[in-house]
Amino acid sequence: MASVIFFVKSIVFCMALVFCWSALTEAALSPTFYDTKCPQALKIIKTTIAQAVANESRMGASLLRLFFHDCFVQGCDGSVLLDDTANFTGEKGAGPNFNSLRGFEVIDTIKLQIESVCSGVVSCADILATAARDSVVQLGGLTWDVLLGRRDARTASITAANRNLPGPTSSLSNLKSAFKAQGMNATDMVTLSGAHTIGNARCLFYRSRIYSETNIDQTFAASLQANCSSNSGPTDNNLGFLDVTTPTLFDNGYYQDLINFKGLFHSDQALFNNGTADAQVTTYSSDQIAFFNDFAAAMIKLGNIKPLTGKKGEIRKNCRSVN
Ligand code: HEM
Ligand SMILES: *[C@@H]1O[C@H](CO)[C@@H](O)[C@H](O)[C@H]1NC(C)=O
Ligand SMILES: *[C@@H]1O[C@H](CO)[C@@H](O)[C@H](O)[C@H]1NC(C)=O
Ligand SMILES: *[C@@H]1O[C@H](CO)[C@@H](O)[C@H](O)[C@H]1NC(C)=O
Ligand SMILES: *[C@@H]1O[C@H](CO)[C@@H](O)[C@H](O)[C@H]1NC(C)=O
Ligand SMILES: *[C@@H]1O[C@H](CO)[C@@H](O)[C@H](O)[C@H]1NC(C)=O
Repeated sequence: MASVIFFVKSIVFCMALVFCWSALTEAALSPTFYDTKCPQALKIIKTTIAQAVANESRMGASLLRLFFHDCFVQGCDGSVLLDDTANFTGEKGAGPNFNSLRGFEVIDTIKLQIESVCSGVVSCADILATAARDSVVQLGGLTWDVLLGRRDARTASITAANRNLPGPTSSLSNLKSAFKAQGMNATDMVTLSGAHTIGNARCLFYRSRIYSETNIDQTFAASLQANCSSNSGPTDNNLGFLDVTTPTLFDNGYYQDLINFKGLFHSDQALFNNGTADAQVTTYSSDQIAFFNDFAAAMIKLGNIKPLTGKKGEIRKNCRSVN
């Protein structure tokens, strides 16, 4: 009711001001944004994601992470997709991204197909938001309506990528503040961390946990040690599963791991370590529906971080470069 009254008041007020109509109609994202502008877009994304995930299940995880790394750096604006050039520094070289982010070719494939049916209409930022959702669905997770209408940045920030993205040795309070800086609260943080129910990580990020920490299941630690030596060197890039129980299934297995002290990163186990997040972890570990419902809402909240709308930014022709 309050929002209806606000809308009516806004219209009355805006009628006095020429520029207001566009502000009212273009500011908010909407699930139907492309329904008339490019009716084929969502189908193309879904089909391509289904193929990519069928070929390699990890790709779904990589695309979900790509969206997170886009949104936490100057908002969900496709900035993470921009390549470095002689006179432009993108975000791909940032510590959390370098040699780590994957899935750019899948986004390119989608963009190429969409451009061929409706050129200059669908943003790379929206393709990424939708690819993340479709990836979760392909891996057995829930679905939600992705809000659309983002535009693409003409800038990127390697500085913000290095500053904003939390690292695997973060404490619970580090994690909370990294999310708070993006307008996400501690509950959202615990919910979105459930994305680690799929995908892989490199030995160098969990080495210290499996050799030096005590709040870890000993059998779990030993099995990882077989493929990740205690010293940096040739095993650095060997992969471990983020969710050892059901590594390629989007479910609540991650939270079950945590209550069994099988979190892969220090930052994962920090959510269940006699701290303020324990209760939420315990709830999700036994209630997948609660996790799924909260995850859908948190993904929408993540996707609402500082989108470019209206006349801001651009619709890139190629997701790797500004027009
Ligand atoms: C809470 C703080 C978080 C930390 C500290 C963190 C850290 C990391 C690290 C270090 C990796 C492995 C990178 C590598 O080995 O190269 C990783 C992988 C991953 N992260 Fe996170 N992450 C966090 C939150 C999130 C969120 C919010 C999402 C998505 C909503 C996400 C999705 C993923 C996925 C799916 C993978 C696996 C990617 C693949 O297999 O390619 N993470 N994360
Ligand atoms: C399928 O996945 C493999 C890695 O498992 C990758 O090298 C290859 O490019 C992928 N093929 C397609 C068509 O996506
Ligand atoms: C950067 O270099 C590209 C060619 O790689 C050129 O088209 C563009 O105009 C340059 N931009 C600036 C701001 O110098
Ligand atoms: C975090 O935000 C969500 C939705 O934005 C809300 O439902 C939840 O109660 C909040 N949690 C806290 C601890 O403020
Ligand atoms: C060990 O690491 C390699 C290279 O990343 C990976 O392909 C393999 O699945 C890992 N083995 C185990 C048992 O985790
Ligand atoms: C909490 O602390 C107690 C006592 O030190 C310990 O037995 C228990 O395993 C801890 N629980 C968690 C979740 O760390």
